[in-house]
Amino acid sequence: MSLPSHVRLVEVGPRDGLQNEAQPISVADKVRLVDALSAAGVGYIEVGSFVSPKWVPQMAGSAEVFAHIQRKPGVTYAALAPNLRGFEDALAAGVKEVAVFAAASEAFSQRNINCSISQSLERFVPIMAAAKQQGISVRGYVSCVLGCPYEGQVAPEQVAAVARELYAMGCYEVSLGDTIGTGTAGATRRLFEVVGAQIPREKLAGHFHDTYGQAVANIYASLLEGINVFDSSIAGLGGCPYAKGASGNVATEDVVYLLDGLGIHTGINLEALIGAGLQISSVLGRPTGSRVAKARNAG
Ligand code: HMG
Ligand code: MG
Repeated sequence: MSLPSHVRLVEVGPRDGLQNEAQPISVADKVRLVDALSAAGVGYIEVGSFVSPKWVPQMAGSAEVFAHIQRKPGVTYAALAPNLRGFEDALAAGVKEVAVFAAASEAFSQRNINCSISQSLERFVPIMAAAKQQGISVRGYVSCVLGCPYEGQVAPEQVAAVARELYAMGCYEVSLGDTIGTGTAGATRRLFEVVGAQIPREKLAGHFHDTYGQAVANIYASLLEGINVFDSSIAGLGGCPYAKGASGNVATEDVVYLLDGLGIHTGINLEALIGAGLQISSVLGRPTGSRVAKARNAG
């Protein structure tokens, strides 16, 4: 498979990254981050979540963040919605694209959204209907595609079954999440071979947490499997509140560096991106998780 000339990056730092932070982060700091990302040329930003504030307190201010960001033409500003209530709140906040999230493992589904996989898919049906009526695009996630913190190994066939349901109900793209970052390049290729036999590969995305330091290799393996959309997190922010020990997604800066080196266009300016990552890292009071940003700023 030849490499693509263009890759679309989905920036999940303001959501997947910040959702895991225990310290309060002001709406102004979140807005500054989103605006810095769009200014760097990021075309798709997951800004927040409309989930229960008891489950994920950090995302409680998502409507306010949406109210204050400067919407740059051509940029998609998206949010997670776990149920119809979340979808309606997102709509009221002016969100034009939402993401629903299911899991490939029953135990993770229970811990993350307090229901079984099939119950979660049932919950998405009314969201899909309302979204269609309102002209809102819906992206789908499957978690634990390369391992589960509670169940261990997860079969690619199980991932394919859940991904196929999401695609069949109308998700325009399904992002496969290595929630705990245990996946390897070999397992990633097998995963996309199995899932890609059931869903067109151009409708799939890769979402790699970097807990084991494999995410950049897994993205390269995915590119070789014909996958052209990847989720990443500025400064490598985050983890998942329901996957203990999981670290953030692969740093966006490191993915852009990889893709620049392959001559693959992203539309993102690496220097401006590094600036955005350093700014939020200083707000959080810790070093950036991007190896590229660290290297560029050493000495
Ligand atoms: P539940 O407790 O079963 O729901 O939670 P419920 O319907 O019984 O409601 C309980 C309370 O929550 C009620 O309030 C509801 O009104 C409220 P109370 O009467 O107790 O005051 N509620 C809501 N509030 C605000 N927004 C809503 C909403 N829905 C109910 N939308 C629920 C079920 C799904 C709501 C809960 O489990 C939840 O919010 N979970 C979200 C978990 C989450 O956000 N996890 C992180 C994102 S997923 C992720 O990171 C993985 C990903 O990155 C991919 C990967 O890496 O694998 C996407
Ligand atoms: Mg994630």
